[in-house]
Amino acid sequence: MITSALVLCVTVLCFKTYRRRQGLPPGPLCLPFVGTLLSAGLSQHPTDIAKLRKKYGDVYTLMFGSKVIIMVTGSEAMREIIIKHADSVTDRPPVSQMLQLNNGCGIIATSGELWKQQRSFALKTLRSFGFGKRCLEHQILQEVEIFMGEITKRGGEPFYAKEVLSPAFANIICSIVFGKRFEYNDERLNIVLRVINLDFAKINIVLRMIGMTLPWLRHLPGDITGFKQRMRYETEIKFFINSEIQRHKDSFDENEIRDYIDAFMLEQIREKNNANSTFSDQQLLASVRDLFIAGSETTATTISWALLYLMANPSVQNRMRKEIDDVIGKTGKPSLEHKSKLPYCEVVITEVQRLGNIAPFAVPHHVSDDVIWRDFLIPKGASLMLNLDSVLMDPITFPSPEKFDPERFLNEEGKCVGQNSFIPFGLGRRVCLGESLARMELFLFIISLVQNFEILKENDQSELSFEEIRGGTRSPVPFKVRFKPRN
Ligand code: HEM
Repeated sequence: MITSALVLCVTVLCFKTYRRRQGLPPGPLCLPFVGTLLSAGLSQHPTDIAKLRKKYGDVYTLMFGSKVIIMVTGSEAMREIIIKHADSVTDRPPVSQMLQLNNGCGIIATSGELWKQQRSFALKTLRSFGFGKRCLEHQILQEVEIFMGEITKRGGEPFYAKEVLSPAFANIICSIVFGKRFEYNDERLNIVLRVINLDFAKINIVLRMIGMTLPWLRHLPGDITGFKQRMRYETEIKFFINSEIQRHKDSFDENEIRDYIDAFMLEQIREKNNANSTFSDQQLLASVRDLFIAGSETTATTISWALLYLMANPSVQNRMRKEIDDVIGKTGKPSLEHKSKLPYCEVVITEVQRLGNIAPFAVPHHVSDDVIWRDFLIPKGASLMLNLDSVLMDPITFPSPEKFDPERFLNEEGKCVGQNSFIPFGLGRRVCLGESLARMELFLFIISLVQNFEILKENDQSELSFEEIRGGTRSPVPFKVRFKPRN
């Protein structure tokens, strides 16, 4: 009797689950309760994704419990969905962990009018502080000088590059949002950087998606989806940011806007009679937190990949150095104006970003209205995962995609080309808000390093590892590097 009831229940559930899949893009076997977890596994590895893509097509359906996740692979499908249906796929999932950690505020995880207002305020303000302009270039170059001073102190001995990369890039975003930089050994900064590092390196993005779609899991004993640990990390980060906000409140002068926090507080004053204003104190904390987190670890991780590829390819380094010497000289200061005159250096940076691909799944999007894509339904309420790997590692656009080959971006006239499929910053309305800052930082740091140092392996015998850690970002396993000053 019990067995028959059980069989009946399972059959009904299977049927319902199957019905739900009607019209959706195809996908692996979907079972009640667990969805496609058993058939598709938890792997985020490109080869596993490629297998699923080969079997089910560019757009396929995964299910966590009853939650529909649509995986989008390949440049064509991604552009068709993200650009053509932008009105329906620009939001973020309403139950994302990040949204909850930020009390529904911020930029990265918010949606609708709140997101629109806050993203546009952030872009406008950051532009006024020099995104893409000379004044910010000057600030970045100052940090480059300090960074190179730190490297020189190591006297050519091997050390973990991340030790100096993390505070250097955090300092650039700190200068923009807090109006100040920190010493590399500042205890408060280092606690926060350790926390961000741990958070980025250790999150399993699939477990996070599961936590996002099945939020009740966080109330179970233990910490299956890592939510409780993230809450602890967030407390540290917010404590740090709150102390900076307090410092600004104590010294605010609306006639002298020093940085992003001041600009936000000025906007709060301007909006004080607007009952629908989104410029709350919580929003200030959350957007500063988003800029700080998104702006520090991402670029530091990209430079880590650059160091690895440059150590492995001394001839590439030599060719870059020759180009830099010809254009800037051995002692001249690099500037963004040199960019168009350093095409080889530019394609090396492009290739590092293609292979480094530090955000292989971008940030999940939410489908706010049914989308008909080709003959399939991408249903309202689904989450959309953009697999940037599938574009950046596409063997048709980039033959032998795993090979480090900067020249693939160089045309016969020696110009940088082929950027259409180069989407490490994502695409569409949610494209990375810090793209122009990141591009400035990558250019100025990498050119300065190659101009001044030979970038060498720990020792001649050491083997380089290109193994990756897939967390919030995709980063290389920690490695040591030597910087030998040029004569
Ligand atoms: C090499 C460095 C970087 C890479 C590869 C990168 C990549 C990305 C990607 C893939 C997204 C998600 C796009 C999507 O949702 O479809 C994103 C979002 C974002 N990035 Fe970056 N990023 C980098 C550096 C930065 C920097 C320096 C900042 C600092 C201002 C920043 C701020 C943001 C913000 C605020 C968002 C959320 C935008 C939104 O939801 O509207 N990023 N980034």
